[in-house]
Amino acid sequence: MINFLDLHKINKRFEDEFQKQFALFLNSGSYILGTQVLNFEKDFAEYCGTKYCVGVSNGLDALMLIFEAYKILGDIKEGDEVILPANTYIATILAVVNSGLKPIFVEPNAQTFNIEPEEIIKNISNNTKAILGVHLYGQLYDVAELEEIAKSYNLLLIEDAAQAQGAVYKDGRKSGNVSNAGAFSFYPTKNLGALGDAGAVTTNNNSLFEIISKLKNYGRVSTYETDYKGYNCRLDEIQAAFLSVKLKHLDSDNLKRQEIATFYLNAIKNSKIKLPFFSEAQDHVFHQFIIEVEHREAFMAYMKANNIEVSIHYPRAPHKQKALREYKTKVLPITERIHDVVVSLPINPILTQQEITIIAEVINKY
Ligand SMILES: Cc1ncc(COP(=O)(O)O)c(C=O)c1O
Repeated sequence: MINFLDLHKINKRFEDEFQKQFALFLNSGSYILGTQVLNFEKDFAEYCGTKYCVGVSNGLDALMLIFEAYKILGDIKEGDEVILPANTYIATILAVVNSGLKPIFVEPNAQTFNIEPEEIIKNISNNTKAILGVHLYGQLYDVAELEEIAKSYNLLLIEDAAQAQGAVYKDGRKSGNVSNAGAFSFYPTKNLGALGDAGAVTTNNNSLFEIISKLKNYGRVSTYETDYKGYNCRLDEIQAAFLSVKLKHLDSDNLKRQEIATFYLNAIKNSKIKLPFFSEAQDHVFHQFIIEVEHREAFMAYMKANNIEVSIHYPRAPHKQKALREYKTKVLPITERIHDVVVSLPINPILTQQEITIIAEVINKY
């Protein structure tokens, strides 16, 4: 069986380093917001090229803390509109609605799956205060266009970088540094994944950094002084230690993903399969390798019969979920089609040449 993603094998590679970090952590006696969190924040900010990084509990909280901080700064208020891609993981949209803001669903570009800049412009109103871009499947959104729109219409640009740790824009900036503030998830399946829940916010804005640093820890400025009605959204100390180990390997892991993607793109030749767009640039770190197949159930059953596990990201569009039923009448044909036909092939740094060759051969015989 070729697994879709074997997290145990992925993490086993770092077992010795994890054990060392765990021993240090245990002996430190400091289990919340200790030196491991501080070290990771410093290293991750440096990696992304931002001035600041705040470690937080997960990707959803990272996004919500950004909105909460902008409310405190007076840049956005309850009921304001946030433009976002209709095809994304539902957490992107939950962050907006849970922050008391109004999501404005925008269709993607059918080739890149990322938000279509022209559609953003069509959806801007007097109540629009922010664009929440997503680097879906590991590919940066159209950075130049989104920055230009945000500037022209005086909107905040916020980045959901949950799926794109280490993606590099052509001018050298990395994900997390192509907006006013970037939100990361380090959920275990991500390119940079913890061994539990974890996340981060990156920014170059000192005020935003200061507020989020407090909000994530009850709004506290010191042990007995609290400035904001904050939360407990701290990055766990041991997860920070594990993430520091894995951060050193992120670039080589991403390179491996890009090599596998290039292999699939050259080796898979089947008119029933539409392959994803890849410009061979560093702006795509292939968190997922997405193909399009009509009648995908038959294809998935065929792959399973050939001992290859595939997945779907995602089977149902967010506006068609019960949780977001108030948006179910939105007309979003591109988004809905994508959710009907996408299939994710295995892509991760531990796949062997033999495995990916088998995957391509099996698909070619479909
Ligand atoms: C695009 C996107 N946004 C947000 C999230 C939420 O991150 P988390 O699961 O860490 O809360 C995820 C991942 O789960 C995601 O893929």
